[in-house]
Amino acid sequence: MNRLDWTSAPAGGPLHGDLAVPGDKSVSHRAVMLASLAEGVSRIRGFLEGGDTHATARIFAQMGVRIEAPAPHERIVHGVGMHGLRAPGDSLDCGNSGTAMRLLGGLMSGQAFDSTLAGDASLSKRPMRRVTEPLLRMGAAITTAEGGTPPLRIRGGQALRGIDYATPVASAQVKSALLLAGLYAAGRTAVTEPRPTRDYTERMLAAFGWPVVSAPGRAALTGGHTLHACDVAVPADFSSAAFFIVAATLVPGSELVLRAVGLNPRRTGLLHVLRAMGADIGEESRREAGGEPVADLVVRHAPLHGIEVPVEHVADMIDEFPILFVAAACAEGVTTIRGAGELRVKESDRIAVMATGLRALGARIEETPDGAAIEGGRLQGGSVDAHGDHRCAMAFAVAGAVAGAVSIRDCANVATSFPDFADLAQAAGLRVSAAD
Ligand code: S3P
Repeated sequence: MNRLDWTSAPAGGPLHGDLAVPGDKSVSHRAVMLASLAEGVSRIRGFLEGGDTHATARIFAQMGVRIEAPAPHERIVHGVGMHGLRAPGDSLDCGNSGTAMRLLGGLMSGQAFDSTLAGDASLSKRPMRRVTEPLLRMGAAITTAEGGTPPLRIRGGQALRGIDYATPVASAQVKSALLLAGLYAAGRTAVTEPRPTRDYTERMLAAFGWPVVSAPGRAALTGGHTLHACDVAVPADFSSAAFFIVAATLVPGSELVLRAVGLNPRRTGLLHVLRAMGADIGEESRREAGGEPVADLVVRHAPLHGIEVPVEHVADMIDEFPILFVAAACAEGVTTIRGAGELRVKESDRIAVMATGLRALGARIEETPDGAAIEGGRLQGGSVDAHGDHRCAMAFAVAGAVAGAVSIRDCANVATSFPDFADLAQAAGLRVSAAD
């Protein structure tokens, strides 16, 4: 991917507007996967046009699934059934996407043919034993590189058996990998988590007609059923909305409306935390879309104060810490984060990347192995490095709105989850643009 740097200048005035952020990344991945394995034709609306979800769609096309794109954000998937995928000629490229690789690790373990899952430089450093260990216990033949990192090499044709697994990490990707392998396993596959994580796999399997028993922190299914084609309406991604929620909160005089944002309770930890810090975030027209709660969010500027982030919200806001770091760096007093060691193995080490960048803008931040103490104050301009992490790049862009001008290195991967971020940000009054 080409190198892209941004500059983000202070907002000229209040942010205003009515924005629709793109479709949910987690839901878009799962919709393509399940629709591909279903009997019949499924239509996906609100599909995220991003690098990560394109990688997943490309992988299924490589295995013989016909996927049409009649319009942007829409896909028609001609399902091939549980045993209809074809052996790919080449390795399967998951790009930057941990979700694609971990979920497919489970799914491909149940196929009759061999496969290899590879990724880009960032994904190639991320831990995969969290999925390969339990998959091996299910009878999968799956290996990682030395050190437990990609590529994943999977030998097909194994007889999988269900297990009852208590995962040590709270990870929807681990849970989902096992459930997807469990579709092909004899007997019952059950996963218990230390804290509940996003439940889209369970919900979507049920929508495609597969019996699943689930409760927060626990999910179980048995192998051998059939998936039936289903239309999926993808809600707007809360994690993409989060950048605008914080931007409108920080820039004086702002009022932004964010339309039809997905408010699955396993995703909205940031709302609780920002409100506890003093944010003014209203919810209007709460409704259901595609089986998920959605609402229009109305965000008005409000001064923030530091808090101790309750550990029980960490899993429900795991993707929102980069932007929370920015909010905390602009709040009055100290914000402490604990129990968030997972941030060190995301697309980058998000604790280190955000702490280093915000320090360069004048913030005082103490890192701990599983969090940070962030002392709020006034940010100033400077240069930061997003280290190719999409969420860190967007978080720094928001910081630029309230600091002096910020130059941000290595932003190209924003295209993995939110290709139109800079355009939408400009429409709202932020001044983010490609650096010369
Ligand atoms: C995701 C789960 C989370 C999240 C990621 C998407 C998913 O990862 O960070 O962006 O779609 O299941 P973990 O399972 O590693 O927590």
